Amino acid sequence: MKVFVAGATGVLGRALVPQLVARGHEVVGMTRSASKQDLVRSLGARPVVAHALDPDAVAQAVASAEPEVIVHQLTALSGKMSIREARHPDHSSMAKMTNRLRTEATDHLLAAGRAVGARRFVAQSFGAFRFARTGGPVQTEADPLDPNPPAALRTVQAGYLYLERAVTTIEWGEGLALRYGGFYGPGTAISLAPDAVMAAPIRKRRFPIVGDGGGVWSHIHIEDAAAATAAAVERGQPGVYYIVDDDPAPVREWLPLLASALDAKPPRRVPRWLGRLAAGEAATVLMTEARGASNAKAKRELGWQPAYASWRQGFAQGLG
Ligand SMILES: NC(=O)c1ccc[n+]([C@@H]2O[C@H](COP(=O)([O-])OP(=O)(O)OC[C@H]3O[C@@H](n4cnc5c(N)ncnc54)[C@H](OP(=O)(O)O)[C@@H]3O)[C@@H](O)[C@H]2O)c1
Repeated sequence: MKVFVAGATGVLGRALVPQLVARGHEVVGMTRSASKQDLVRSLGARPVVAHALDPDAVAQAVASAEPEVIVHQLTALSGKMSIREARHPDHSSMAKMTNRLRTEATDHLLAAGRAVGARRFVAQSFGAFRFARTGGPVQTEADPLDPNPPAALRTVQAGYLYLERAVTTIEWGEGLALRYGGFYGPGTAISLAPDAVMAAPIRKRRFPIVGDGGGVWSHIHIEDAAAATAAAVERGQPGVYYIVDDDPAPVREWLPLLASALDAKPPRRVPRWLGRLAAGEAATVLMTEARGASNAKAKRELGWQPAYASWRQGFAQGLG
């Protein structure tokens, strides 16, 4: 099939494009920067340059590719957040631009897809930290999202919701929104690279376990996330899917093992009140109350299995 990947140069796009090419698809990869065209070519795709917030440029780029499937992997999450921004992610420039990419750019890509007669649209959403903080530790696509998320995450959460509704309700084709777990592996925030955004503070013991560390997180290796995305290009009913590994686990379990995989000292432990004071309410909720996700629907409907079934094996063998 002809597949158009918006965000071909991002961490997921770089893993996805070669997998699509290996499965026999013809891929056009979109980037904002003329200088990244060689990177897109090296992944096996034809590059096209367009700014995602420019509807005419997006329409032209998509029209030049005549895709059957469009994949939306646009985010603006590169770089570091200041401590102030981490306390209130909604106010960060990263979150503001990413929200525009999840709302305005989604609309531009959908309009372009409809205009060229595309028949499928697969988009990046985010799974973790969004469940209502009730019920068991592991939840599914049928379980409710948090009706009252921490104030510092409300705009970000609204962005995901907008994207998911817009994509999964298209009438001219099949729309799938993939709620990925936390990425780890080469190029991601959790990798062996010295500047990996989440690994670096863990190495410096600045990423403590807050309270009882009972918040449950779902992880996914970046190559497994890409494999699920490639599967979603080819099959699966419209709707949302959790793309996570088989092993949702509380922070108190996975963080010490991650620190050890990074050759770091064990994480410190701080009481909940101190966590709230230092890192804010949102981070404290994620550390203590988050729920994990089940991948049963993705396995069943996409015919996908993560190669790293658990982060236990993935952190030990898949960070480099
Ligand atoms: N589920 C998760 O855990 C998750 C999900 C996403 C990201 N992250 C983390 O976030 C960090 C950064 O992610 P990333 O490497 O994918 O980088 P990113 O800066 O978020 O960029 C992602 C993609 O979006 C494209 N893009 C951004 N703005 C654009 C615009 N205005 N017009 C056209 N294209 C645009 C970029 O293309 P160009 O730059 O080539 O224009 C790139 O291909 C990583 O540490 C990653 O682990 C985590």
